[in-house]
Amino acid sequence: MTETDDRPAITVIGMGNMGSAIARAYLERGYRTTVWNRTADKAEVMADAGAQIVSTAAKAVAASPVTVLSLLDNTAVEDVLDSVGDAAAGRTLVSLTSGSPAQARANAAWAAEHGAAYVDGKVMGDPPDLGTSRVSLAFSGPRETFETVEPALRELGSILYHGPDAGHAAVEFNAQVAMGYEFLIGFLHTLSLVETEGLDPEAFTERLAESLAGYAGLLKMMAGAIKSRTYGPDLGSLDVQAALMDDLIAHRESAGVETVRMREVKSLMDRRIAQGHGEQGFSSMYELLHL
Ligand SMILES: NC(=O)c1ccc[n+]([C@@H]2O[C@H](COP(=O)([O-])OP(=O)(O)OC[C@H]3O[C@@H](n4cnc5c(N)ncnc54)[C@H](OP(=O)(O)O)[C@@H]3O)[C@@H](O)[C@H]2O)c1
Repeated sequence: MTETDDRPAITVIGMGNMGSAIARAYLERGYRTTVWNRTADKAEVMADAGAQIVSTAAKAVAASPVTVLSLLDNTAVEDVLDSVGDAAAGRTLVSLTSGSPAQARANAAWAAEHGAAYVDGKVMGDPPDLGTSRVSLAFSGPRETFETVEPALRELGSILYHGPDAGHAAVEFNAQVAMGYEFLIGFLHTLSLVETEGLDPEAFTERLAESLAGYAGLLKMMAGAIKSRTYGPDLGSLDVQAALMDDLIAHRESAGVETVRMREVKSLMDRRIAQGHGEQGFSSMYELLHL
């Protein structure tokens, strides 16, 4: 009598830092896990942890109903999909690889042409935290497909579904990450100013962190103003803010701190005021941002 293996099955393609963490998370949770990596030895080390190793990406995709791809970039995903070809028919592919919304939509189109289902995903977090709520994952693609793979995806962290457009997980990821960078470069400029002026950067940051808590409400209010295109004087009128901005720029310059981005904000204020909207608030500059 042959023993049946009733463990859930999954394939992970790409045994880099993230892919091997994903494979380990599935192995630890009792999945029958098949892995493939372009450079074979990185896959072979997973055998000790209980993974099934196969020699081609096509065999890997054929081995499980669901395949997670964690590769360097979408060019690597395209290379792997080309080599998988018709072996993808009837399978569900989930790419957890960085890339643009257009690339995610192209992957979805490739899957549809090859009789496969596709969900795109983006990971926010570090490989050692995989499988915990410290990692958040954004997904998009057909709801029915997402719901089929949802239990397996939940094993990886805290997940959120962003709708049927395969590109929307990438939009969410890029928007969140870019917002973080814009915020953090402002923080570095601010620390440069306060340290030059003789304040303790850590003690200042303690106070700043408390002030920032108030921004959540402000952001929501501004998003509402933008959605309705009704711009009240949030943060005061632009006429008043423009004068304050001149002071802030002069202060940074006097301390020898670079002011390119502050000048850009000031020039947006000036343009909006010149359009006759000096009584409106900061959110009204939204009207100037679309090229
Ligand atoms: N690491 C993180 O902290 C982190 C966090 C969030 C998101 N991510 C995203 O997760 C994805 C994987 O990142 P990672 O850190 O695991 O990268 P990594 O350690 O550099 O691994 C890259 C993987 O891609 C494979 N690869 C590259 N080009 C290929 C090709 N043309 N054909 C087949 N395989 C190819 C590599 O195979 P070889 O071994 O043969 O080179 C390797 O398995 C990336 O999209 C990254 O942006 C990473």
